[in-house]
Amino acid sequence: MAENTEISVPNHVAMIMDGNGRWAEQLGKPRKYGHEEGMEAVRRVTIRASERGIKVLTLYAFSTENWKRPPQEVHFLMQLPIRFFDRFVPELQEKNVRVNMIGFPEKVPASTKKAIYKAMEETKDNTGMILNFAFNYGSRAEIAKATQAICQKVVAGEINVKEINESLIEQHLFTESISPYQDVDLLIRSSGEQRLSNFLLWQNAYSEFYFSDLLWPEFNGDVLDEALLSYKNRQRRYGAV
Ligand code: FPP
Repeated sequence: MAENTEISVPNHVAMIMDGNGRWAEQLGKPRKYGHEEGMEAVRRVTIRASERGIKVLTLYAFSTENWKRPPQEVHFLMQLPIRFFDRFVPELQEKNVRVNMIGFPEKVPASTKKAIYKAMEETKDNTGMILNFAFNYGSRAEIAKATQAICQKVVAGEINVKEINESLIEQHLFTESISPYQDVDLLIRSSGEQRLSNFLLWQNAYSEFYFSDLLWPEFNGDVLDEALLSYKNRQRRYGAV
């Protein structure tokens, strides 16, 4: 397990940003208004996380199941990375944050992919926190894809079945790109829901969970600090006594 200089700060924090729609509906506004404010919350949390010495912040921005939403909402969600990076890349640069993406790029519109890859390129030399967007991401599909890739190598005679172990599987998951911090240390979900929703199933095997009743647009650095404080007081045993 990769060590942080300050042991009580989690290396990898992953967030399920839930409740944008409900937040907007409470105000009698369209759901997209909630996503808009959700973008501001992403900015606030990213800045605080980078100041706290977190190595990787993974945000569940669009799941493989989110395509089931109404087309106008999907369209709006696909535009968000374009607008987010347009506005915030200078601030990310200032904070030495590097952008990364995990997920299936195939179905993502070209303009959205272009914006994400551009932000990745522009920030590639930054040595601070990795801001890792899970975009068109689904954990079961990720594991199935890794299984296919490994099986192909077996069929091609490149590896022996006996060589398939946890480390080899990890190397074929999207999260290989955030090595050595693939394992989530702290998983945070907003809006009071308490489930994983197909998010980093393998990587969350030993993570600590923190649930907040706040809706995602209400989230900020202080709530992150509360979660970090709670994490600090947990005892992680990884199956030992
Ligand atoms: C869940 O709320 C949120 C999403 C599916 C989208 C997440 C997107 C953001 C937080 C905006 C920032 C994104 C980027 C790329 C900068 P929901 O719509 O499921 O809310 P509900 O459960 O109340 O309906």
